[in-house]
Amino acid sequence: QEFDLAIRGGTVVTAADTMRAEIGIRDGRIVSVAERVGPAARSIDAGGLLVLPGGIDSHVHIAQASGPDVVMADDFASATRAAAAGGNTCVMPFALQPRGRSLREAVTAYRALAEGQCHVDVAIHMIVSDPNPAVLGQELPALVAEGYTSFKVFMTYDDLVLNDRQILDVFDLARRLGARAMVHAEGYDAIRYMTERLERAGTKAPYGHALSRPEVVEREAAHRAIAHAELVDLPIVIVHVSGREAMEQVAWARARGLKIHAETCPQYLTLTAEDLKGLGDDGMEGARYVCSPPPRDAESQAAIWRGIETGVFEVVSSDHCPFRYADAKGKRNPRAKESFRWIPNGIPGIETRLPILFSEGVSTGRISLNRFVALTATNHARLYGLYPRKGSIGPGFDADLTLWDPNRRETIRQERLHHGADYTPWEGFTVTGWPVMTILRGRVIAEEGRITGEPDWGRVIDRAVPGAGT
Ligand code: URP
Ligand code: ZN
Ligand code: ZN
Ligand code: ZN
Repeated sequence: QEFDLAIRGGTVVTAADTMRAEIGIRDGRIVSVAERVGPAARSIDAGGLLVLPGGIDSHVHIAQASGPDVVMADDFASATRAAAAGGNTCVMPFALQPRGRSLREAVTAYRALAEGQCHVDVAIHMIVSDPNPAVLGQELPALVAEGYTSFKVFMTYDDLVLNDRQILDVFDLARRLGARAMVHAEGYDAIRYMTERLERAGTKAPYGHALSRPEVVEREAAHRAIAHAELVDLPIVIVHVSGREAMEQVAWARARGLKIHAETCPQYLTLTAEDLKGLGDDGMEGARYVCSPPPRDAESQAAIWRGIETGVFEVVSSDHCPFRYADAKGKRNPRAKESFRWIPNGIPGIETRLPILFSEGVSTGRISLNRFVALTATNHARLYGLYPRKGSIGPGFDADLTLWDPNRRETIRQERLHHGADYTPWEGFTVTGWPVMTILRGRVIAEEGRITGEPDWGRVIDRAVPGAGT
């Protein structure tokens, strides 16, 4: 047999082209894409389906230490099962350096958690919370050389926030190393000021979270990050841009010729701050929608769509950050009822990212199929040094594929999902377009919502630096 596997009868979609073609796969890689490919040990009939590059989700949180009372709801096994069922073949979670501790140790321990537990491939980013001389002088350069070529910095959160000088220092190092820096742009002092003001006025409920982080807080931090990036001459990624104001900063920077990349997420296209107002039985219903930055309003949703259509946004990630609603309601984290500030920030979305963006973007005619592929796979690979191994369909790429039914109507239900959270923010949300089969390096890892792969088929992979000046 010429091939181990052939995919026949489907419509192959890349960021550039849409074509009727067959795909020949050998040893886990794509060998041939042609009108007809030769005999194969196994053939899969993709008639009536789209054949897409497997989804790459370059912003997820898995088994990340989250504080004394709070446990993240996913380990690597559950998060990557959910990823596979949702049409993804690669996810990028974060190894977090606790302040005062070694970044190297954090990465080593985190990688050990992942090894042998992954249904999809995993590439690890870092979170730098303490850029001390050992981190800047030795650890970070060595880790980047070993293939951990990207890291995130935070402009808020007590345990993570960097001051402006620290941001400038890590940006400067990233430029010298060719590493990719991601920025969480929300202003620490402004959030603390707003939180204390709201608490003094008696605001406790989840909606206070949205009030404490208005768009101006994100806009100010985005502008500051962009200014620092300009000073240092470093292209950065502003992650989880939530609304019109921060997006305008990115567009302004681009117009000045700065290389600022931007990411947004399905929650900023489909949820609003109004969702945080839900009370339910015990006043905590809105905790299901608490993420940072918070969802905004209909006008911001429309602005984010324009940003997707016009290319301001290059990637749509889930920012999957799963907590259990039962914990938020007080079982494990009783302080959550005393103030919104103790509700863990983050919502689950690793399994629903692709259907929501496809349905709201492609099925409504807002974006093309090719743009969908760019936003969900190709640009993630390019931005983070996975290209040309992953992110497209062509000879030499890993055989990471998602067979997609563009016409399938489905309703998102918690009971069908594979993540470890006990709810989905999109309960009852209907979509048109659904992943039917996910293939990782030539093996079927999920089919019709069933997990068919083993947790040791996914690999922890190293990456190249993204390339100078990009
Ligand atoms: O609320 C969120 N997004 N939590 C996850 C951590 C982060 O800032 O991305
Ligand atoms: Zn963030
Ligand atoms: Zn870019
Ligand atoms: Zn995040």
